[in-house]
Amino acid sequence: MEITCVNAVFFSAAGNTKKVVTELAGRVAGLRKVPLEICDLTLPQDRISQGYDEKQLVIFGTPVYAGRIPNKLLPFVQTLFQGNGALAVPVVTFGNRSYDNALLELRNELALHGFHPIAAGAFPAQHAFTEKLAKGRPDETDMKLLHEFATGIADKVLHLTEIPDPVSVPGTEPISAYYTPLGTDGKPAVFLKAKPKTSTDCTDCKRCASLCPMGSIDYDDPASVPGICIKCQACVKACPAHAKYFDDPAFLSHVEMLEQNYTRRAEPEVFF
Ligand SMILES: Cc1cc2nc3c(=O)[nH]c(=O)nc-3n(C[C@H](O)[C@H](O)[C@H](O)COP(=O)(O)O)c2cc1C
Repeated sequence: MEITCVNAVFFSAAGNTKKVVTELAGRVAGLRKVPLEICDLTLPQDRISQGYDEKQLVIFGTPVYAGRIPNKLLPFVQTLFQGNGALAVPVVTFGNRSYDNALLELRNELALHGFHPIAAGAFPAQHAFTEKLAKGRPDETDMKLLHEFATGIADKVLHLTEIPDPVSVPGTEPISAYYTPLGTDGKPAVFLKAKPKTSTDCTDCKRCASLCPMGSIDYDDPASVPGICIKCQACVKACPAHAKYFDDPAFLSHVEMLEQNYTRRAEPEVFF
């Protein structure tokens, strides 16, 4: 099947999903010798309606939050995109615990909105909460597999003569509830309302306010977070003065629990 374009679409607060999706889509575009187009959904002002056609391949990536597509992103995935018969590759990145039902949920949403998911992938990547989980990933080994995945996708597209059934991916249907974060005591760690704090090292550069995917940080006073916080860590990672941090005890207990229990190396998984 001929395609005219590969589209890299992603939400990526801490940068991992962007890295994985742009590398994958760039490779596939190169192999098929078609242009690459980028659609970054991370900032509120960039979430605009997108329509595709049957000659396009859309590599669509989100991080895993609590075992699923980030819940504040889900409405945009459900309303902004019309596949109109485009081929698609759902991709999730996850922080070494599990991708649970996220890949299945993303595949289903894409299929519901006019896309044909022909392949799918789940890639471990450094956990946004801590450097101790999947540190430095995607690493060289992950990238090698990512490049093989790109070759597999490019070949599959080339040899397609008719639209296949949606690619099978792991998960349970109906899509179950979000993963409940636990603390070190094994009990649910409730930190939904936690927000980042700001130390006196803040230089008022406003970078955090510009980069918050929820637009929740007050531009005039970046120490103030009047909007919703999804704990994505964009502000923490972007702050040049390292002035943003979380000190919520339940959040910190959850991070410690993850660090204690998810030390094994999770491997990428790809599906055709
Ligand atoms: C709010 C939140 C919830 C997360 N939940 C999970 C999870 O359920 N399983 C997991 O393995 N990683 C989880 N992670 C880790 C992210 O999936 C991982 O760091 C991802 O690569 C982040 O993508 P990004 O860098 O594109 O923002 C979570 C991260 C955040 C910020």
